[in-house]
Amino acid sequence: MQNFQIQTPTNLVFGKGMQHQIGTLVKPLAKKVLLHYGGGTVKKLGLYDDTKKSLHAAGVDFVELGGVVPNPRLELVYEGIELCKKEGVDFILAIGGGSVIDSAKSIAVGMCCDGDVWDFFIDKAQVKKALPVATILTIPAAGSEMSQSAVITNEKEGRKHGMSSDLIRPVISIVNPEYFTNLPKSQLGNGVSDIISHIFERYFTNTKNCDITDGLCESVLKTVMKNALIAASDPKNYEAWSEIGLGGIIAHNNWLGIGRSQDWACHGMEHELSAYNDVAHGAGLAVLTPAWMKYVYKENINMFVQFAVNVMGVDSSFRDPDAIISEGIARLEEFYKKLGLPQKLSELSIPESAFEDMAKKATNAFFGDERGTGNFKRLMWQDVVEIYKLCK
Ligand code: NZQ
Ligand code: ZN
Repeated sequence: MQNFQIQTPTNLVFGKGMQHQIGTLVKPLAKKVLLHYGGGTVKKLGLYDDTKKSLHAAGVDFVELGGVVPNPRLELVYEGIELCKKEGVDFILAIGGGSVIDSAKSIAVGMCCDGDVWDFFIDKAQVKKALPVATILTIPAAGSEMSQSAVITNEKEGRKHGMSSDLIRPVISIVNPEYFTNLPKSQLGNGVSDIISHIFERYFTNTKNCDITDGLCESVLKTVMKNALIAASDPKNYEAWSEIGLGGIIAHNNWLGIGRSQDWACHGMEHELSAYNDVAHGAGLAVLTPAWMKYVYKENINMFVQFAVNVMGVDSSFRDPDAIISEGIARLEEFYKKLGLPQKLSELSIPESAFEDMAKKATNAFFGDERGTGNFKRLMWQDVVEIYKLCK
């Protein structure tokens, strides 16, 4: 096991009706709040009205900025920073999904720096300070409600990048699974695909002696996958959504990744799909993950046999290791299919002609300094092209 340090200061408030507490929770922490949200969803859910009511009741002063889109844009982050400066905002409240939360985190960082906030996403600057962020989550997926990351799309440059710092973990997150019962099946699929990918990125490791986190990863993977199928056939099932919601939080607050080397190649390769064609993150991951597994599994056969047997339920006495692994991957593909997720890049309108540029961007070769991507097996741009070809 590797050395580690983890600090997860989020006050996590989970369950039915908990959104009504937001005003009381925020009041001692804020003088003036930016209420940040996306499209029409929070209004349809009644969350927008509930939040405003709760803020008013607690005497919290606020201004608003809506309009965050999936794959949130840098332009709106700039607009948010300008508004917050003008209004003297010292606290950001995000209501919505990962995109809204990431936009909020980016405004929070931009408010505490003199330079361009984009510099934090391209490793030109390190986060030293950020305004506090609170969230009320409406979709279990990105895990941003407790994660130390934010991902932003710079449309002008056609790039999608993340930044990471413990300083951007939300100080409060309210998670009410009742909101999830309104999600269309496509968002269930996208969300669950992202959640299980956050676990895969940590689970597939070459670090030895990580039995506790191995077991936790396997348990959360199985629970989320089981309950995803329940929610797919019974979308109003609150208990199933609660399991998925808690799974989404644990999947990405990094408790499952401590002490072990993590991979993150699928995320790196997927961000290029989203940047190229505004692909939904979870849909891109569902296409890439089985292809990545097929390409890299020989690096550590035991780890993949363990996955096939402990997570996908393949019989361990069944033929040979390659066959066990192949059956495990086939069962994962079948799971994605049941959730209506795509299987090929062509379904996402990503043509083969785009592979080389995307691969070079994912490995930084495009910018003249090839670093590669992933740790389970370090992938150079030619490797990434091969993976894209496996799922074209
Ligand atoms: O636009 P609105 O009206 O808000 O509707 C949203 C959006 O269209 C809708 N939605 C949200 N809650 C709903 C709902 N529709 C019906 N009922 C509800 N209860 O769902 C659509 C997608 O929302 P979005 O916020 O984009 O989804 P998600 O939470 O999956 O976030 C995706 C973003 O998070 C990033 C992804 O790259 C992507 O940009 N990620 C962020 C991470 C982080 N900060 O730690 C890690 C992840 O790996 C990921 O990269
Ligand atoms: Zn993700």
